[in-house]
Amino acid sequence: MSIKDRIKNLTNTLNKHNINYYVYDNPTISDFEYDILLRELEELENKNPQYKNQNSPTMRVGSNPLKEFGTIKHRLPMLSLANAMNENELEDFNKQIIKLDLKDVEYVAELKLDGLAVELVYENGQFIYGSTRGDGFEGEDITTNLKTIKGIPLSLVGDRIPTLLEVRGEVFINKKDFKKLNSNRIKQDLVPFANPRNCAAGSLRQLDPKITSRRPLRIYCYGPGEIKGFEFDSQIDFLNYLPKWGFPVNPHIKLGSGLNFLKKYYKSAEKLREKIDYDIDGVVFKVNAYFLQKKLGERSKSPRWAIAGKFKAEQGVTKILDIQISVGRTGALTPVAKLEPIKVGGVIISNATLHNQDEINKKDIRINDYVLIQRAGDVIPEILKVIKEKRLSNSNQFFISKVCPICKSEAYKKNNNAVLRCRNSNCKAIIKGKIEHYVSKNCMDIVGLGTKIIDLLIINNLLSNISDIYKLKIKDLINLERMGPKSAENIINSINQSKQTTLAKFINGLGIRNVGLNASKLLAKKFNDDIFKLINCNYDELININEIGEIMADSIIKYFSDEKNINIINECLSSNLNFNSFRVIQSTTLKDKSFAFTGSLKNYSRSQVAEIVESYGGYFSSSLNKKTDYLIAGNKSGSKLSKAKSLGIKILNEKEFLDLLEKI
Ligand code: IVH
Repeated sequence: MSIKDRIKNLTNTLNKHNINYYVYDNPTISDFEYDILLRELEELENKNPQYKNQNSPTMRVGSNPLKEFGTIKHRLPMLSLANAMNENELEDFNKQIIKLDLKDVEYVAELKLDGLAVELVYENGQFIYGSTRGDGFEGEDITTNLKTIKGIPLSLVGDRIPTLLEVRGEVFINKKDFKKLNSNRIKQDLVPFANPRNCAAGSLRQLDPKITSRRPLRIYCYGPGEIKGFEFDSQIDFLNYLPKWGFPVNPHIKLGSGLNFLKKYYKSAEKLREKIDYDIDGVVFKVNAYFLQKKLGERSKSPRWAIAGKFKAEQGVTKILDIQISVGRTGALTPVAKLEPIKVGGVIISNATLHNQDEINKKDIRINDYVLIQRAGDVIPEILKVIKEKRLSNSNQFFISKVCPICKSEAYKKNNNAVLRCRNSNCKAIIKGKIEHYVSKNCMDIVGLGTKIIDLLIINNLLSNISDIYKLKIKDLINLERMGPKSAENIINSINQSKQTTLAKFINGLGIRNVGLNASKLLAKKFNDDIFKLINCNYDELININEIGEIMADSIIKYFSDEKNINIINECLSSNLNFNSFRVIQSTTLKDKSFAFTGSLKNYSRSQVAEIVESYGGYFSSSLNKKTDYLIAGNKSGSKLSKAKSLGIKILNEKEFLDLLEKI
């Protein structure tokens, strides 16, 4: 047998064993025998690198460390799920669905795996890249880490391979593996992970894929992204087909219909939870037929055709040491309980929001009380009730002072609203909150302008609103405590770099009440990236947008009717903000071309380059392979430059990259 054939043969054998182990839970070879075959392949590939495939099983050991993760846009948004907190809500969900169809609608019932959602993208059967869910629209490029997960097929098997296949699934760690890993960490004096979910998330976000490869990560796949060259009619058909391509699918999947089916599955999953070796935090019910899913459609964040039935959250008892008032960017005075730290569901909790005075009154919460707290998944911990038997006899009721703790001006409640707000637009806490929001990642993404610096700039009267950011000079910053000339220069550079942005991020940065990133993206799109069209729009135009309701429309109109806001916006715009389009320009030049990036450019950050490439229809990836079309190389290019040269990939400097865009 030729070396080339032996490499092919070993690759197929190892892939087959992986599938037997991870997909069918039926190992047909010992770990020892597997390692011998893997070593043989490794040696052959080292001696004959021309035959080494990017998706070889030897790639699972992890390649070189990355400096940072790139971002990847999802072709279809990765939505989350609405929750049914009790049987009534489950009944409501079922009612909404059956309204559409007279027949008993079929559901697929699945376990809700408690890990990290990822998307895997295959072109012509080859794993090309994969990402985290991120904000649902774009996630982090964790391709090299995903390649180390043995359950993820690097090449699809079977004879019907789609041209494009996007598969979504949950990466997790088995409880037994987690315990072993943690006890090893303790032995090595390393901090143990709080729980399997954190461990899986931390492992996937390692910049060094070799570390990821040593973590026993697993995956179960549960949903499609975009697929070309293959069609499915239903979720159950999709799930049944996945193993044929080599994807592991959770075995506890059921097809059924009617409310009783949903309730029964939920109850059986609660029992199953104790028996299985991985964490689940609920169940997921999905309408089976894809045509019905389409008919039901989606809300801005979650589909109408699916719902999660969450298990009851984990609870614990601890003491309230103090109640402090924090003031956010909207001026809301929020009482926060400072707790004696307690571990709930594997996470240490030391704060819990008390929301407002009504909530404090309703639960009669006092300083020094012992309270039952609950933590549900990622949700902020909440206080369920006070353990009255443990209350001290001299305790007093707690009242939020009607004075802003920061600026000392009077705080007000609007009509029947439970929230007290500081209305002083010069309140330093509000100014700070607004500026912190404006510079944050999902807004203008001004790297380096952190909380402490913002604080100092406000105290020194250099910042009183977001537009003042653009008036900052190096000399203003150098005069601040512990600020060197280099850091000052870096901040000014990142302010300048951040001016290349999208209108959606700018709108989000304005902090209009009830308008988050999703709504901002929608507004930018609906108003053709023209901020003046948005500023001048009327209530009816807004309300006619499907996803925008009365509350949001009111907030938007109110915000833009305030002259002060318009002045601030105009000042920001006059500092040369440049909004790139979020939409895909139909171009034939960059369409489906893949780009990688190394070094640093003069005018654009890495994530801006990614956004530009994607807005022209190309792909951006943090790693290079022989299918990469262009490497954009700036100053201080890393090892990617030499790799690109050896692979014969076209290399572009900043000017050549911009010229390429011009040509379109
Ligand atoms: S379906 C639009 N199925 O739950 C459908 N999600 O809140 C969205 N998850 O981000 C996902 N097990 O991380 C789906 N069997 C399952 C799941 C599942 C766990 C997670 C996933 C997602 C989150 C949605």
